[in-house]
Amino acid sequence: MNHVVGVTGVTRVHGAGQAAVHALRGVTLGVAAGELVAVMGPSGSGKSTLLNIVGGLDRPTSGQVFIEGANLAMLSTPQVAALRRRAVGYVFQDFNLIPSLTAAENVMLPRELDGLRTALARKEALAELASVGLAPDVAGRFPDELSGGQRQRVAIARALVGRRRLLLADEPTGALDSSTGDDVMQVLRERADAGAAVLLVTHEPRYAAYADRVVFLRDGEIADGADEPLEQAR
Ligand SMILES: Nc1ncnc2c1ncn2[C@@H]1O[C@H](COP(=O)(O)OP(=O)(O)O)[C@@H](O)[C@H]1O
Ligand SMILES: [Mg+2]
Repeated sequence: MNHVVGVTGVTRVHGAGQAAVHALRGVTLGVAAGELVAVMGPSGSGKSTLLNIVGGLDRPTSGQVFIEGANLAMLSTPQVAALRRRAVGYVFQDFNLIPSLTAAENVMLPRELDGLRTALARKEALAELASVGLAPDVAGRFPDELSGGQRQRVAIARALVGRRRLLLADEPTGALDSSTGDDVMQVLRERADAGAAVLLVTHEPRYAAYADRVVFLRDGEIADGADEPLEQAR
């Protein structure tokens, strides 16, 4: 299978000695283009750690991470940062929008960091906002002038802009009512159907039902839904 992202035998230990916490213990998982995989599990089971490692925000203690065929261990920190910026989009539960920027400016920001001219970044941002179902008049509003669902759509647009091929969403519906949460899941599902690889953390079976498959984490191990060992995650 052609994996956009894969982790093989990933372990992550926080701290050392008596204080060591094994957040992940030998996790192997791949997400293919077009696939939406949900990660479920109790609080503290390692879900966020897994997402951070998959996205190159955290490094494993042992095991390997591949993004689009690149083994992150073989890359320098700036190379990982560049790959992450180009290929990976994040959606967090608390949106992480910049309050002093409008919706459009929030979505433009990653593309301006990519080096795009402002006019082009704006054009892409407006198209991305429309594609997540936000009307044009929303573009000029600031985050505190938007509803929770609108804010989360802006965050998704920002994560997806520039055709990022891997989308990581850590409880993106956590702060939303269930009908707004369904709208957000619909957007994630459409993005997967359009070819993105999506890895979603959720507590809610209702939202996990949008996934192609569900992986259950318990105490840092995949308790159910594990992949066969990956020969090479690509
Ligand atoms: N930076 C950190 N330092 C120490 N322990 C951490 C750190 N991040 C996570 N942990 C611990 O690792 C385990 C997994 O955490 P996390 O991945 O956040 O779980 P989840 O997202 O499933 O709630 C927990 O026991 C947590 O306390
Ligand atoms: Mg978490």
